[in-house]
Amino acid sequence: MLAALNRGADLVSVGRVFIANPDLVERLEHDWPLAIPEESSFYGGGAAGYTDYPASRHLIAK
Ligand SMILES: Cc1cc2nc3c(=O)[nH]c(=O)nc-3n(C[C@H](O)[C@H](O)[C@H](O)COP(=O)(O)O)c2cc1C
Repeated sequence: MLAALNRGADLVSVGRVFIANPDLVERLEHDWPLAIPEESSFYGGGAAGYTDYPASRHLIAK
């Protein structure tokens, strides 16, 4: 993402990684590790695999 911005991109879109990282912006800002999306839970129709990924432990510890 930063590489794209550094090459002059005006906008970088993010899909799957945002599902697994509800606090993606904070993780990128602080260089915290990213969770890996579980693709087998995509398109299930419920919360599982969509809105049940935890925030980074760094935020939970606040
Ligand atoms: C589970 C899942 C649900 C998605 N739902 C939508 C949606 O409702 N509307 C939409 O425009 N794109 C949707 N997308 C597509 C994403 O916005 C994005 O285009 C795609 O994931 C590719 O970007 P990525 O490589 O960063 O994941 C969905 C993708 C996934 C994996």
